[in-house]
Parts: sequence; structure tokens; C-alpha cells
Amino acid sequence: MRESDPRESEGRLPTVDRRGFVRSLLGFSIISTIMGVLTPIIGYLWPPARSARGGGGRVLVGTLTDIPPGQAEVLPINDKPVIVVNTQDNQVRAFSAICTHLGCVCEWEDRRQFILCPCHDGRFNALTGAVISGPPPSPLPSVEVVVEDGDIYAGGA
Ligand code: FES
Repeated sequence: MRESDPRESEGRLPTVDRRGFVRSLLGFSIISTIMGVLTPIIGYLWPPARSARGGGGRVLVGTLTDIPPGQAEVLPINDKPVIVVNTQDNQVRAFSAICTHLGCVCEWEDRRQFILCPCHDGRFNALTGAVISGPPPSPLPSVEVVVEDGDIYAGGA
């Protein structure tokens, strides 16, 4: 049986002895280690819900006001960068923004109206995704895009 601490009877808080402190520290370390191992396993088995643009289906990417004629935007759709182009004659197209050369993310060349890979100056046609010039070996893969009542939807199964 443990001897009572005279300070406890005086109404003061009990002190923690060295052994108790080490046990608490050891217990905290064991719990932290277990949580550190279990957290990624639980995250793998039950992944968090995807964001609105990552569900795998068609996604509302904006409106014709957001992307007016002659403009384009690179957006994350289903966890991949997609460039949505609204050409000067109001034709909306979408392509994977991952360059077919070495995988850089393409951007919109506003002044000259084409899709540009800034890494090695690869250039792609805004209507077809075909290579205009530079080292890319193949066109940008197209992404399904639909305009309904001014809303632009991209992606799909
Ligand atoms: S990675 Fe795009 S041109 Fe090289």
C-alpha cells in the first residue's frame, strides 16, 4: 500500500514522482506511435471524400462569362489539370493540360491564341489540341466539354 503524501492531506496537489513521470511519458510515446501507424492505414482504407472537382464525372468548371471568347483557364478536374478554351469564335474546347513531351503543365498564350507549354516552347492548336510546333510528339488529349445555358461542364466518365 502506498504511503500517503503529507501534502495531500494539507489540500495541496500531489506531486508526480520521477517514476510516475517516466510512466506517463512512456504511455504518451506508445499512444503516439500507435496513432502514427494507424492514421495512414485508416486513411488508406477509408479515403476522404473527393473535392467537388474530383469525383470522376462531369464537372461545372465555370460560365461563358468566367471564360469569355479568346480566353482559357487551367483547372483541376478529376485531379488532373485541364485547359478549358473558349476560342474567339465562341467554340469551347477542353484538353488535358499535361504536355505530351515531358509532362509540364501547359498554359494559355493569350496574345497569339494557342496553348503553350512553357518548358520547351511546345505549342498546341486551341481548337484541336494538335501540335503546332516544338518537341511534343502528339496532340493534347481532348476532354469532353459541354455548354448548357452558359455553364461549361468538362470531364466525364
Ligand atoms: S514538356 Fe512540354 S514541350 Fe517539353
